[in-house]
Amino acid sequence: MEDRRHTVLITGASGNVGRAAVEKFLSKGYQVIATVSPGKNHSFDSHDRLEVVETDLANRDMTTHSVDQILRKHSIIDAALLLAGGYEGGGVGDTNTAQLEKMISLNFKTAFHIVQPVFSKMKTQPEGGRIVLIGARSALRPQDGKNSFAYSLSKSMLFKMAEFLNAEGSSVGVSTSVIVPATIDTPQNREAMPSADFNSWVKPEDIAEMMVMICSEKDSSLRDPVIKMYGNS
Ligand SMILES: NC(=O)c1ccc[n+]([C@@H]2O[C@H](COP(=O)([O-])OP(=O)(O)OC[C@H]3O[C@@H](n4cnc5c(N)ncnc54)[C@H](OP(=O)(O)O)[C@@H]3O)[C@@H](O)[C@H]2O)c1
Repeated sequence: MEDRRHTVLITGASGNVGRAAVEKFLSKGYQVIATVSPGKNHSFDSHDRLEVVETDLANRDMTTHSVDQILRKHSIIDAALLLAGGYEGGGVGDTNTAQLEKMISLNFKTAFHIVQPVFSKMKTQPEGGRIVLIGARSALRPQDGKNSFAYSLSKSMLFKMAEFLNAEGSSVGVSTSVIVPATIDTPQNREAMPSADFNSWVKPEDIAEMMVMICSEKDSSLRDPVIKMYGNS
């Protein structure tokens, strides 16, 4: 890294990938701003380069306000890792409008509400910026996604958003990547699928390492913005 301390904003920081990302980016010397849901008392080991911000990312006004506060303190946001999201199963015939809206809110709006102010800011920075979104394999493979229609559809919106952001951001040094995990090795997945081969699943730490690589690249315009991390599954 250069002399200047780099700043990364991480959403979904209390989750499986989020905690791995917080730890990894702190270990690499970043200033880390970690967002968590309000009122859930998520605890982190205290660290002088870690700042925890409570905000409901599904709420646009609250998120905009939180980003305003962050930007008052930090003049540059080098990277934003937008990891908040969640899963619900159900095929197209089992999905009602409320479930569809819930998944779009959880997986798309939670990213979009941060992207809007952060992307605007990054475009004005001489250093540009990096945005990383988390898709899902089921959004790319209809055979995998047919039993999680609303989830997969909501994740598919992130790929399109990345394309629009890159169309606008590439000339000003702001690049957006989408990491596409298959099943991640989490306690929740182990509990839900106890007879699966856990070794074939992608580890949160490996996703965090990939995000460090994306964020430390000087010129990411050559990189395919969609990075598949399927492990061996
Ligand atoms: N787990 C998998 O197998 C898998 C596979 C493919 C893709 N993914 C995606 O990868 C990402 C990380 O997965 P994970 O296992 O780390 O997920 P996770 O442990 O469930 O973490 C998700 C995080 O999102 C936060 N979040 C949700 N709604 C929010 C809101 N309205 N405002 C603020 N924060 C909110 C949650 O915070 P609170 O709990 O405090 O609300 C939580 O920290 C997710 O986007 C997930 O969809 C996961």
